[in-house]
Amino acid sequence: MAINKIERVLRDQVTQLTQKLSKITQAEEIYPLRSLYTGKESELQKALGLLKDLPKEERPTAGSLINATKRELEQAISEKLTKLLSEELAAQDAVRDIDVTAPFHVNMPDVPKLPRVGSLHPLQHEINRMLTIFTTMGFTPFEGREVDSDYYVFDSLNMPKEHPARQNWDTFRTEDNLIPTPHTSNMQVRVMRKMKTAPLRAVIYGRVSRNEAIDAVHGHTFYQIEGLYIDKGVSISNMIATINAFVEAFFGRKVTGKVQPGYFPFVEPGIEYMGQCPFCEGAGCGSCKHTGWLELVGAGMIHPSVLREGGFDPAVYSGFAWGLGLDRMVMQRNGIQDIRSLFSSDIRFLSSAV
Ligand code: PHE
Repeated sequence: MAINKIERVLRDQVTQLTQKLSKITQAEEIYPLRSLYTGKESELQKALGLLKDLPKEERPTAGSLINATKRELEQAISEKLTKLLSEELAAQDAVRDIDVTAPFHVNMPDVPKLPRVGSLHPLQHEINRMLTIFTTMGFTPFEGREVDSDYYVFDSLNMPKEHPARQNWDTFRTEDNLIPTPHTSNMQVRVMRKMKTAPLRAVIYGRVSRNEAIDAVHGHTFYQIEGLYIDKGVSISNMIATINAFVEAFFGRKVTGKVQPGYFPFVEPGIEYMGQCPFCEGAGCGSCKHTGWLELVGAGMIHPSVLREGGFDPAVYSGFAWGLGLDRMVMQRNGIQDIRSLFSSDIRFLSSAV
C-alpha cells in the first residue's frame, strides 16, 4: 500500500471516530470504539504492520503520520470520556441525598459500608444498670409520668395549695394547668394505691422537668430514679443501710456515707445522703468540687400523711423513699463536664460515653 493510501485510510479513521463520538451519550459506549479504532484489529495497527513493506525513504514520514493519528484518536476518545463521566457524576450527585453530617462512606454508594454497631444512650444505659440493681434488691419498676396533676405532684405529697415548699420545685405549667413533673415522687401515692400490700418495694424512674436556666450543670430536663419501701416497723437505720447498699452497688466499690438533715415535705425526717467521693477517696477532686463528698441522694421516712393518702395506716406501717438525679451520676462516672452533651446528637459523644 502506498503512503498516500495509508494517509487516506488514517484520515478516514479520524473522521469516522469523530462522527461516532459526537453521537455517543453514555461513557460505556466509548470502550468498544476505543478497541475498534486503536486496538489490535484496528486500521491503525494494520497500518503499522504495513510500514515494513514501504520503501525505506517513505518509512519515517509514514511512521510519524501513524503516530500522530494514534495520538489524535486517543485524545478524541479521552476527551469525550472525561466529559461524559463528569456529566454522569454530576447527574448522580443531583439525585443523591447527601447527608453532610454522616461519616463519609454513607454518601458513597460504591464504597462498602463499614459495619456500624449502635449503642444505647449513656442515660438509658445508666437507667438499665440502676434498674438491675433495684430489681435484684426486690424492687418492682414503674416508669414515671412526664406530665401530671397538681394533686400528684404536690397535694398528695403533703404540699397543699399555697404551701411555700412548692417553690422548691420550679415547675413549668401547661395551658390546662398540668405540670411537667419536676420529680419522680409524684408517683409515690399512685404506686402505693396500685401495690396496696406491704412489704412494698418499688422503683420509679423517669424524665423530669424544671424551670431552670440552662448551663453546664443545670438542664431543664433530666432523669431521676427513686426507691420506695414500706413495711411494718421500718426504721431510719434500715433506710441508711439500704441506701448505702444501693450506692455501693452503683459505684461498684465500698462507699463511706454520711447523713445530714434535708427538707422535703413528703418525708419526716428528711435527709441528704452524702457519699465520700469514690473518685478521690475523699481527698478532693473535680467530681466532688474538692469537698471530698458527693451529694448523692435525697431521702427520708415517708410522712404519715403521704402513707395515709396512699392507703397505708401510719400507725401500723412505716417506710422510706430516696431519690437521685441520674444525669449527674452519669456525668460523674464518665467524667462528662457539660450536662448538655447528654442531650446533643453528637455521634462522637454518643458512641464514646459509658
Ligand atoms: N423528690 C426529691 C427531689 O426531687 C428527692 C426525694 C425523693 C427526697 C424521695 C425524699 C424522698 O429532690
